[in-house]
Amino acid sequence: MEKRQQLYEGKAKKVFLTDDENMLIVSYKDDATAFNGLKKGQIAGKGVVNNRMSNMMMQLLEKEGVPTHFIKELSERETLVKKVKIVPLEVIIRNVSAGSFAKRYGVEEGIPFDEPTIEFSYKCDELGDPLINSYHALALKLATKEEIETIKKYAFKINDVLKAYFLKLGVRLIDFKLEFGRLSDGTIVLADEISPDTCRFWDVKTGEKLDKDRFRRDLGGVEEAYSEMFKRTMGEKA
Ligand code: TMP
Repeated sequence: MEKRQQLYEGKAKKVFLTDDENMLIVSYKDDATAFNGLKKGQIAGKGVVNNRMSNMMMQLLEKEGVPTHFIKELSERETLVKKVKIVPLEVIIRNVSAGSFAKRYGVEEGIPFDEPTIEFSYKCDELGDPLINSYHALALKLATKEEIETIKKYAFKINDVLKAYFLKLGVRLIDFKLEFGRLSDGTIVLADEISPDTCRFWDVKTGEKLDKDRFRRDLGGVEEAYSEMFKRTMGEKA
């Protein structure tokens, strides 16, 4: 597989074309942003953790019947993926109150829900990724009815798989964000990443935060949290 020119640079990843028009190479950076890019920094080793951890999750999910963009891990920071058109929706699943949910509804963090919730944000940096409902997403032609149904079904399935997986590692999956894409034939697959950047992970015993909230909230121990999640998922040191 030959790496060709850079197609796009995002906040945490670069994307390259390859000699196969249906495949891209994703390269994970150590750059971190929060609050729609307002806060900027670096988390040493994050790119490696997020790449390898995300790939492990994608392979687990494939086994459980969720199609993903994953093809092959090329190196510590680079992965070959299927080319998709990203559906411009951030899909957020929550098991426990935290973050914007706690803030918006005026409740404390850490309240477990009887059932997981789902919400969508319109993926648009200029607008600050506003919350959107499925009717609005349809009106804006961001996705079809069938696509939204498929995305919901996969998102809850992913939650079931990941919640159980992380619990075995002593980690509570509080909430997370997913992105989906369309292959050239229209098939919906899971894309982007599943990592401490995109999930909230709390240690079962201590409640310690093991995710990007340490960076967002200046809690310190950011690198340590990422390498702890790496150690628990990969069974080796980052
Ligand atoms: P929130 O509580 O800030 O809405 O975040 C919900 C989940 O989504 C949390 O696990 C962090 C993740 N997330 C992203 O991956 N990207 C984002 O831009 C935001 C705001 C949240």
